[in-house]
Amino acid sequence: MALITKKVYGTEDVLPRDSYKWQFMEDVMRKEALSYGFKEIRTPVFEHTELFQRGVGDTTDVVQKEMYTFETKGGDSVTLRPEGTAGAARAFLEHALYNDGLPVKASYFVSCYRYEKKQANRYREFHQFGLEVYGTAAPTADAELITAAQSIFDRLHVTNLQLELNSIGCPECRPNYYAALTEYFSQYKDQLCETCLSRLSRNPMRILDCKSPVCSKIAQGAPVVLDYICDDCRSHFESVQKYLDGAGVAYTVNPRIVRGLDYYTRTVFEFVTDALGAQGTVCGGGRYDGLIEQLGGQHLPSLGFALGMERLLSLMEALGIEIPPGPVCDLYIATLGEAAQMKAFSLIEQVRRSSLIAEGDIVGRSLRAQMKYADKIGAKFSMVLGDNEMAQNCAVLKNMQTGQQTQVPLDDTFFEKFFAVYLDADSKALMEQLQT
Ligand code: HAM
Repeated sequence: MALITKKVYGTEDVLPRDSYKWQFMEDVMRKEALSYGFKEIRTPVFEHTELFQRGVGDTTDVVQKEMYTFETKGGDSVTLRPEGTAGAARAFLEHALYNDGLPVKASYFVSCYRYEKKQANRYREFHQFGLEVYGTAAPTADAELITAAQSIFDRLHVTNLQLELNSIGCPECRPNYYAALTEYFSQYKDQLCETCLSRLSRNPMRILDCKSPVCSKIAQGAPVVLDYICDDCRSHFESVQKYLDGAGVAYTVNPRIVRGLDYYTRTVFEFVTDALGAQGTVCGGGRYDGLIEQLGGQHLPSLGFALGMERLLSLMEALGIEIPPGPVCDLYIATLGEAAQMKAFSLIEQVRRSSLIAEGDIVGRSLRAQMKYADKIGAKFSMVLGDNEMAQNCAVLKNMQTGQQTQVPLDDTFFEKFFAVYLDADSKALMEQLQT
């Protein structure tokens, strides 16, 4: 078959046979977010380019090298979101959500776009789940946010993630660190890549997350930020650690984490694994106390994290964590002849109205082919309607797992009878499951 085109490089499809895995993870995340008081926010997939230039930072790899930016027919420059924080913050300000009572807690599922070199677990379109908290400077908020992330991983039985924590200071202490970095990197001016050379005067911290092998080797010997933070940042960082200790959340302090986006201040963290090769960061976040102000709002300390859905799913698969299969067809009614098909059509609707899954033939297949299909989709029960059944106004309901057969009437009591058999089989299956 000659397809006229294939998926764009760096993108992936989630197929119907696999989507239950995503839905399972999403359900756990939604429930967990709700239990911490987060409500969902949905923002557009593209924003004015300046939002990311100003928010994420124009010396970051994301803005300098990876954005999908284009001019609209009206001449505006818009960008497909490379991450979810900037858009959520823009919406928070635009709709004056700060009047809703602080802190405001927002959760989101977003698709993100970064023009990166494709690797295992690194895509050009990927998906994030994120939590953002607006309007609190307290270390309790940092600890609560990190605990929420940990709790999602616990609920998904993902054990192989290490939490790494750091503080990257505030506008008070950052200049001291910048000075130390500038002095250090200036020795290597002749070896740094062109982008990093320009970062040297504008934002030397960004050299620390350059992906070029030469720059990253030089960065290994650079001064670490924890040696330069001020007393307020240090005491904030110590408090966060105390709360995490109290909550039993294990972590290590890694003074080399600086994160790749410009808005971060104070606490930053990553959940990393060694089970995914080079792309081991599954979740990242931290405080961004200056972002809301930078986008035109008042000074409103805030914080958040995002986790990569693809990476988390890959990790779960690598660890052999079983994801419960999605629901299957409860009843398939196979038919022979038009009258039977009409009857089945209305019986199937009755079953569906009770939130069960029911299907019948919509292809015009032979009875044999219909039964084969019922088998293929794993239908729990099947029923055949033909001339005899129509004449007698009853049919045989078959449990496809046990082979057990039950007569059911095709009158008004059909659903009641079917449901009784269904529940009986379901509770027996549950009992068997509990006994094993
Ligand atoms: P980030 O570290 O750039 O942070 O991305 C968060 C997560 O998204 C990463 O840990 C990773 O799992 C996933 N991810 C990033 N890039 C890719 C890619 N190319 N392919 C697959 N997965 C990827 C942020 O985006 C911040 N907005 C997080 C945040 C929220 N900070 C505060 N609030």
